[in-house]
Amino acid sequence: MPVSRHLIALSAAVCLAAGLAAAPATAEPRPRTLAELAKKHHKYFGSATDNPEFTDAAYLKLLGSEFGQTTPGNAMKWETTEPRRGVFDFTAAEEVMTFAKAHHQKVRGHTLVWHNQLPAWLTERSWTADELRAVLKNHIQTEVRHFKGRVIHWDVVNEAFNEDGTYRESLFYKTLGPGYIADALRWAHEIDPHAKLYLNDYNVDGIGPKSDAYHSLIKQLKADGVPVEGFGIQGHLALQYGFPADVRQNMQRFADLGVEVAVTELDIRMPLPATPEKLATQATWYADYVKACLAVEKCVGVTVWDYTDKYSWIPSVFPGEGAALPYDENLTPKPAYHAIRKVLGG
Ligand code: XIL
Repeated sequence: MPVSRHLIALSAAVCLAAGLAAAPATAEPRPRTLAELAKKHHKYFGSATDNPEFTDAAYLKLLGSEFGQTTPGNAMKWETTEPRRGVFDFTAAEEVMTFAKAHHQKVRGHTLVWHNQLPAWLTERSWTADELRAVLKNHIQTEVRHFKGRVIHWDVVNEAFNEDGTYRESLFYKTLGPGYIADALRWAHEIDPHAKLYLNDYNVDGIGPKSDAYHSLIKQLKADGVPVEGFGIQGHLALQYGFPADVRQNMQRFADLGVEVAVTELDIRMPLPATPEKLATQATWYADYVKACLAVEKCVGVTVWDYTDKYSWIPSVFPGEGAALPYDENLTPKPAYHAIRKVLGG
């Protein structure tokens, strides 16, 4: 065999071995992304993100291609957006907005009123009800005005209830009483009537005292004409606590109240180390959770709380736990990723 033919044969063999055979004339279509697959069901599939990750090009490439929606993980929180009273800073949030716009992603606004990640100027003194009401209204309306027309949802109030369904004794509740929730919704709606206004919480996946409290509250708010339009189920699950088997029924009972539902912060953590068995269970849970959303017409989409274990918040908050997301620390898809694709029809 002449040298050149020998080389061609050899390189073809190498290519084949590497799975890199030259593309046939009719090339296989590019596999659909999670965003594209979800869109066929009229839902979005998204991922949270955070500013420190914006130096990681490989991370950004997947964030921008695989996901049709994003949520700033921290950039829109009170301590970041109003670090001094009346002085607003949307620089970090704008970085996320610019990325989202460039990649045609919807953005969920997170979050206007929450007991965590508040600036010291707000928590380190006491307020009269009138003072705090003015501060809260100004915070909400300034932030909503800034992003007007650019976010699809606002998590207006985050984590308002305790596990037993009683109101969380936050600064806002203690100073203003439960009416702060209706006020917050009305103030936000006054500025951006097109953003869907959500209440958002964790441990409300299934039916229980905490989700019951939201069900009653939303029913009452609706009856009072308060602009509540969505219920956000964070979905921070853990393998050791079991899967919420009634998540679909729970979503449906909120839909039946006339609000939409979103899975806003899905992750499924496990005690480390991850094993093939645990990762297989995790994959089933992700699939079942996404399946529940697909089965409920008013479930508008699913957001994972970042997409890679490289940037998950879990290990820092739940020591000894982790591996909660559909991609591993090397940005390689895990069984969970493949299971989600399959449920979406990929
Ligand atoms: C988390 C962020 O991911 C972390 O980076 C931050 O240190 C703490 O907050 N519920 C919420 C989110 O509504 O805002 C939280 O995000 C996770 C729990």
